[in-house]
Amino acid sequence: MVGKQKITGPAFFIGKEGDGLISFGSGQPDLPPPKEIFKGLENPRLFKYGLIQGDKKLREALAGEYPKAKAGNFVITNGASEALDLAMRVLAKMPGQNKILLCRPYYYSYPPIVEFAGLQPIYTQLKNGLIDLDDFKKKIKKVKAVLINSPSNPTGRVETMETLKAIERITKKLGVWVISDEVYKDLIYGRENYLIKGRHVITINSFSKTYAMCGLRVGYLYSPDREFVQKITDMKVHTSMNTNSMGQAMALSAMRAPRSYVKNQVAIWEKRRDLIYGGLIKLGFDLWKPEGAFYVLPKIKNTESALGELYYKYKVIVYNGAWFGAPGRIRLSYALDEKKIEEGLRRIKKFLKGKESWLK
Ligand SMILES: Cc1ncc(COP(=O)(O)O)c(C=O)c1O
Repeated sequence: MVGKQKITGPAFFIGKEGDGLISFGSGQPDLPPPKEIFKGLENPRLFKYGLIQGDKKLREALAGEYPKAKAGNFVITNGASEALDLAMRVLAKMPGQNKILLCRPYYYSYPPIVEFAGLQPIYTQLKNGLIDLDDFKKKIKKVKAVLINSPSNPTGRVETMETLKAIERITKKLGVWVISDEVYKDLIYGRENYLIKGRHVITINSFSKTYAMCGLRVGYLYSPDREFVQKITDMKVHTSMNTNSMGQAMALSAMRAPRSYVKNQVAIWEKRRDLIYGGLIKLGFDLWKPEGAFYVLPKIKNTESALGELYYKYKVIVYNGAWFGAPGRIRLSYALDEKKIEEGLRRIKKFLKGKESWLK
């Protein structure tokens, strides 16, 4: 590996591969998308501008997944990332508070997205990776919106149904918006998910994770409030225009793939979860057992040195927990095949030799 540039953040690693690297970095599924997505792409219509709100057929298909929803309640976006960005910027223009409540640890883009919109993030610290309702109740009174992400990146934890229902109730009563980032809603082991509902709830989702299509950049925003949807569309016309038409056609075909596609993926993720969790426990790490998504967040001292040595000496990419508001931890994505996970664990074991105190 040439040179030793400083590792500044996730952008340093995103897209890096080959050269014997084992990447536990970016959360991008290595599994193939549904084979159906490659059908019907010869349509010349796909090379023209499309509806800013998104392809009507795709929105109609999505409406079938949400009770009482209509195509008009959706905007198709360039990944969940654009949906989050537009939601924050539209909220920023509405009257009232300018604070947004985030749960810490958080997905690393949340604080910048809030700040880019001219809003101010405030935080509730997760306890054992889960929302502490006492602290939540204190802070929720001071904000315009709260961002919920369950299953969570980076904790891998899933909020209990009671907590999610309590959040739904409390925010409705106070008139606080909920932005529910559900990009991992299908990747949950052990129980059914609960999705927060209501007129005050803005749901964000994506085809990146469930359908392994992250490079195509297709996500969406759903709100029962048509006025809010209109504001999002009015803003999107001045930023990215329509979302990539070919990606939308592929997303629609993905939704028509047999449901067994998703079920099979989840079974694979669960096996990998057991492999990495068991392996890291065996190496002496302290971590939560993930219940959803595909991340682990073990504790380790000297995280910056660990990142540098793992990358430059052992060709292993891990992310710094500090990027997610979790200093003293590293985040590993297990979106890679079992052989690579095993090899990565072997390299981490070598790296840890003589550094056992880093895990205490
Ligand atoms: C919690 C969370 N939200 C949003 C995103 C962005 O997803 P997309 O690829 O749809 O923009 C990610 C990507 O890792 C994520 O983990």
